[in-house]
Amino acid sequence: MFVMSIWGTSLSLSSRSLAIALVLCLTLLYFSYSFNACLLASISRSLQQSNLRNLLSLTSTPRNESSSSSNDSATPAATPSANTTGSTGTGSTSNVPAAVGIASGSDGSPKYQLLRQPGLRPSRHLPDTLIIGVKKSGTRALLEFIRLHPDVRAAGSEVHFFDRHYQRGLRWYRHHMPYTIEGQITMEKTPSYFVTKEVPQRVYHMNTATKLLIVVRDPVTRAISDYTQAASKKADMKRFEQLAFVNGSYSVVDTNWGPVKIGVYSRYLERWLLYFPLSQLLFISGERLIMDPAYEIGRVQDFLGLKRVVTEKHFYFNATKGFPCLFKSEARSTPHCLGKTKGRNHPHIDPSAIERLREFYRPFNNKFYQLTGINFAWA
Ligand code: A3P
Repeated sequence: MFVMSIWGTSLSLSSRSLAIALVLCLTLLYFSYSFNACLLASISRSLQQSNLRNLLSLTSTPRNESSSSSNDSATPAATPSANTTGSTGTGSTSNVPAAVGIASGSDGSPKYQLLRQPGLRPSRHLPDTLIIGVKKSGTRALLEFIRLHPDVRAAGSEVHFFDRHYQRGLRWYRHHMPYTIEGQITMEKTPSYFVTKEVPQRVYHMNTATKLLIVVRDPVTRAISDYTQAASKKADMKRFEQLAFVNGSYSVVDTNWGPVKIGVYSRYLERWLLYFPLSQLLFISGERLIMDPAYEIGRVQDFLGLKRVVTEKHFYFNATKGFPCLFKSEARSTPHCLGKTKGRNHPHIDPSAIERLREFYRPFNNKFYQLTGINFAWA
């Protein structure tokens, strides 16, 4: 009896200690599992962050280089026949950014697949739309106004790819473009494109579907604006009247002088129309861009297939500056106008000289109205 009770006690003691040991083991297991899980989560988080950083510094893939763009040197090809049908030939594009592996670590795991979805990865693309001119007609105002739209991203400065840096190739050009995501338009403005002979063909070879924006202004006012800008950089510049005419009289206009020459819009437009149909060009009135910027920007948004987001609510008229200004922009959240170099005071020009220039431009303006189908009603 006595032996039985001792045996019973020791049995109950050993099963209690077994239970305690079991609980201890389970607790230990739980803590070690939690610790490992935390460790793994933090490693994966830091890996993701470093991958995103890599993404932003990566050279991106082309969206709309011409189909021959594997040759990135952008060597000009043979001149195409007049393209008035808007066909997409060599420049046909895919709007989906190519799914490129992330740095060297592309391994097809779900993490990479998520980041490789088109549109999630910001990348640089060749422009879909160009503001090709005309110099001193309001090209900066147009760019600053249209880039208020969240679906438009623009290169900050004039890249001059098609006129000065063409030999550097499309890869170089693309590198100067801003990062965009799927659905955003890439835009660039270089006003000298409009008047540079080789540019229409070069743009055509990049992408036949490129949309072209052209701001135009009364060529006489434009010439004076051009002169004013040049004179602001050169102290001893001759008077406008001396430069605009040959032999000091107002009888012969100096058509070789840049500020006069650029105003013969029809001449340059004819070259563009050899490569692009009129439907791919939008003409913006420089005068109306000052009087009613919302109206002109509305037309631009329609032309680019964008929702009308930029409206009259974005503009106010600054009486001191004498021009429309912005309540806020991509760069600044406070009301501001364009810089000092935009909206300068023009010097007084002899009215007879102005009248003679108007007479000179009249037939060219009429030709331009005929080509565009728009009467700009310049005097
Ligand atoms: P002026 O400085 O001669 O007045 P661009 O940007 O192509 O060089 O054109 C400059 C012209 O844009 C200016 O010429 C000005 O008339 C015009 N412009 C149009 N909208 C403007 C704005 N909101 N603020 C300043 N200038 C504007």
